Amino acid sequence: MILVTGGAGFIGANFILDWLEQSDEPVLNLDKLTYAGNLESLESLNDDNRHIFVHGDIGERNLLASVLAQYHPRAIINFAAESHVDRSIHGPEDFIQTNVLGTFHLLEETRAYYASLNDADKASFRFLHVSTDEVYGSLSASDPAFSEITPYQPNSPYSASKAASDHLVRAYHHTYHLPVLTTNCSNNYGPYQFPEKLIPLVLNNALNGKPLPIYGDGSNVRDWLYVGDHCSAIRAVLSKGKVGGVYNVGGDNEKTNLQVVHTLCDMLDELQPKNSSYREQITFVKDRPGHDQRYAINATKIFNELGWRPQETFETGIKKTVAWYLQHQDWVANVTSGEYRNWLTKNYVERAA
Ligand code: NAD
Ligand code: DAU
Repeated sequence: MILVTGGAGFIGANFILDWLEQSDEPVLNLDKLTYAGNLESLESLNDDNRHIFVHGDIGERNLLASVLAQYHPRAIINFAAESHVDRSIHGPEDFIQTNVLGTFHLLEETRAYYASLNDADKASFRFLHVSTDEVYGSLSASDPAFSEITPYQPNSPYSASKAASDHLVRAYHHTYHLPVLTTNCSNNYGPYQFPEKLIPLVLNNALNGKPLPIYGDGSNVRDWLYVGDHCSAIRAVLSKGKVGGVYNVGGDNEKTNLQVVHTLCDMLDELQPKNSSYREQITFVKDRPGHDQRYAINATKIFNELGWRPQETFETGIKKTVAWYLQHQDWVANVTSGEYRNWLTKNYVERAA
């Protein structure tokens, strides 16, 4: 079996659902169930004994040791993280705790577990660390896209914590020969994304008649990848990636935030029309401090070495995504009760003022 950490989050849940659609190999899902973790995303697996859920923190060493000894996974895929840049600006500590220290504890327990394996199991074992393009910093309009040799220049507490975790993963390979793989992916979108991130937040606000907050002038660029394509890239790296290797993952879909929001408004105008265009709800608000201007991924290495290609264009992926959110308003309503309201007050009231 494989061990997935953070499997109740956006990408982790999509990964588990996709994995079990294509394989009968069981998945052990270790998740702390923070505000971002929702087992409802995995409801379709409730009666499926190929999915085993363990409620826990990647920093809990005793729990990790016993889970590894009991289930004997052939691979660990580490999605668990605090992942929202704005939250890292309001309160960086959780990011250091999970992304840096949590990854460290997970690596330590993995190292002990790896040492206990026989030679055949050692040869096939992999630790795959899921990371982000944000570790490379910010690009100007004319800069070439991030490649695997672009120097790290993280700018937010979130990206700095992910950069630190990437360095630890690298060091555990170099020093202890742990068979690691790292992926650095661009912005994901798709089903089950928590509505604090741009695309689901805009869809949710639009449908509820609320302002659509655009930070600064909306000219910041992100390189969007449909989540299913990120999942297939991770599967490709896990099965064929070179041990110790780093793979950038992206779909060559650079868009300004304003372009993305216009697209979403135009799609809603068509699918759920009202008296006026959703574009009228757009509001420009105070910028994110230290806001990175542009991300873009050069995915040549994973294309050439592993033959991976994204299946969705931005146009096809966003169509699926908007349709999913329109059909799953109950999921959105459930995850946006409680703590979510406090977050909206903290992040947006002051910005609008
Ligand atoms: P998410 O915030 O939606 O989910 C994170 C999950 O990790 C949640 O289920 C949460 O409960 C769990 N978790 C948090 N702290 C934990 C801990 N200490 N122990 C165990 N579980 C814990 O995040 P996501 O968007 O699904 O991102 C998953 C990973 O992919 C992250 O490592 C992120 O840095 C990376 N990534 C995300 C994107 C993106 O666009 N969302 C792009 C590239 C890389
Ligand atoms: O690049 C990969 C990263 O993408 C991941 O590592 C992160 O986990 C993920 O959260 C994402 O980070 P971003 O900061 O790019 O995503 P977010 O959805 O928060 O914002 C996308 C852009 O939209 C960014 O330029 C900020 C802007 N934005 C965001 C929100 C929430 C707005 O203009 N208004 C908003 O309300």
